[in-house]
Amino acid sequence: MDLENNIFMRALRREQVERTPVWLMRQAGRYQPEYRAIRAKMSFLELCHNSQVAAEVTTMAVDMLQVDAAIIFADILLPLQCLNAGLRFAQGDGPVIDNPIRLASDVDKLSLFDIEEGLGYVFQSIKLFVKERPLVPLIGFAGAPFTLASYLIEGGSSRNFERTKAFMYQEPQAFARLMAILTDVTIAYLLAQVAAGAHCLMLFDSWVGTLSREDYESSVLPYSKQIFAALASAAPSIHFGTATGGMLDLIAAAGSTVVGVDWRMDLASAWQMIGDKAVQGNLDPTVLLADRALIKERTQLVLDKAGGRPGHIFNLGHGIGKDTPVDNVKYLVDLVRELSSKPRG
Ligand code: CP3
Repeated sequence: MDLENNIFMRALRREQVERTPVWLMRQAGRYQPEYRAIRAKMSFLELCHNSQVAAEVTTMAVDMLQVDAAIIFADILLPLQCLNAGLRFAQGDGPVIDNPIRLASDVDKLSLFDIEEGLGYVFQSIKLFVKERPLVPLIGFAGAPFTLASYLIEGGSSRNFERTKAFMYQEPQAFARLMAILTDVTIAYLLAQVAAGAHCLMLFDSWVGTLSREDYESSVLPYSKQIFAALASAAPSIHFGTATGGMLDLIAAAGSTVVGVDWRMDLASAWQMIGDKAVQGNLDPTVLLADRALIKERTQLVLDKAGGRPGHIFNLGHGIGKDTPVDNVKYLVDLVRELSSKPRG
């Protein structure tokens, strides 16, 4: 069977499929002992920059879980290195930006770069994976401008995004300039991933749920629309954010092929807001910390909410946590295959 007729690719096109395709955000990561063994020998950024090992880690997750799609091992923050933002991952603290944007004039200090020169190692990882596993659909990805801007402005992760929102309100022109720069970088980065062999693209606007509808609509949506318009003829796309229950209709309007849904909202109601599109989600990742009976019950519930409609791709509502038992992750993937292939009564 060729790749375009793979179950994941067909579900993206909302064709009728024999069971629900499944892959998991952060399917490669610290919950795997094999991953931790590799990380004991190199830092996270070294791992991302080492295309051979990054491709291996990507393959390892797919082989172990037998999921229906791979996501290239990289990070949404890698382009910020190229912009000279001073990205590093501090032990236990997550990402740190050493040169944060605090003044309007800081936006002009970002250094523009050539995509191939700056991020060629990611394209190389993609090429190596596609060569190794030519029949496995590969998802390329990038961070969306708002989520990337939040790291640049906050200087790292944040709970309430107060600095980001204050900058957006107080320096609207500089904020728009920043969003425009990040939009251009994101489009070039994603298109180059397709050129390298990615079959589907995912845009992570993980923290956009912090915004009101009106701020999303005026300050973020135009850039996301620009991105999906640029991708439309290149590859199918997935648009994901968390805590987006109040704005899924606007997120859908940005123009992706699929909308990703977190666990806070019931999938049937979410789908109603999204409308005529494929949907990905949305099991609470912490359910994987429970026993098998609960995992089964909640997985069945997600499938019931999807109701066998074409265009459902099973996933978690956010990434797999680092303390998740590997066996529960395997159990979940097997369950989705088994439960979704039963005739619905
Ligand atoms: O399997 C996969 O999903 C592929 C790879 C992937 C990673 N990060 C690897 C990673 C993907 C798709 C991402 C996306 C990403 N990165 C997002 C969007 C998705 C989301 O979670 O909302 C965000 C916000 C980031 C930024 C980021 N990277 C943070 C906040 C952290 C630290 C927190 C954490 O989980 O450690 C990272 C590090 C990171 N990215 C790890 C991995 C496997 C852990 C690094 C390690 O090995 O120590």
